[in-house]
Amino acid sequence: MGLLSHTGLRRAWRGLAVAALLAPLLATAGQVRWYKPAYVTAGKTLYERNCATCHQPDAVGTEQWRQRDANGLLPPPPLNGTAHAWHHPLSVLYRQIMEGSAPGVGTMPPFKGTLSQGEALAIIAYIQSFWSDEVYDAWRQIDESAKKGVMGQ
Ligand code: HEC
Repeated sequence: MGLLSHTGLRRAWRGLAVAALLAPLLATAGQVRWYKPAYVTAGKTLYERNCATCHQPDAVGTEQWRQRDANGLLPPPPLNGTAHAWHHPLSVLYRQIMEGSAPGVGTMPPFKGTLSQGEALAIIAYIQSFWSDEVYDAWRQIDESAKKGVMGQ
């Protein structure tokens, strides 16, 4: 009896300790984003002006986004966290906007003459505002690894 309650206590204690360790992680997961709400507001206007004709309002893109056309080119994919864009670190998203499609991949024009660095980042913030916390967290880990890779070189 004495032993049982001792074990019970130990178990409860262990549970508490684990909860205490996890609580800060759970509290911050997905909630700390790199951008301010004002970026999203600015990015929405810029997105609608520069990107929505191809990537659609609310960044929903093309449903069959993996399907190449008769010329072997990819259509504008969703950017709202349901397709592939979240696999790219911030630096790659930024480069895609500034440089446009690589030859033979798609018809996206380069925006480096049109958008400033801040405007491109605001558009990325707007796109990311559609991403769920789970998708955002997965992206953040990819982005962190990419930064470490660059720093290690
Ligand atoms: C003329 C049509 C067109 C316009 C305008 C356009 N895009 Fe694209 N975009 C595409 C196409 C087509 C692709 C797919 C081929 C590729 O990856 O280059 C693409 C791909 C992308 C990707 C890579 C997505 C992935 O899953 O890898 C990002 C990010 C992106 N566009 C962002 C933008 C943003 C932001 C704007 C506005 C500043 C914009 N695009 C404007 C056609 C366009």
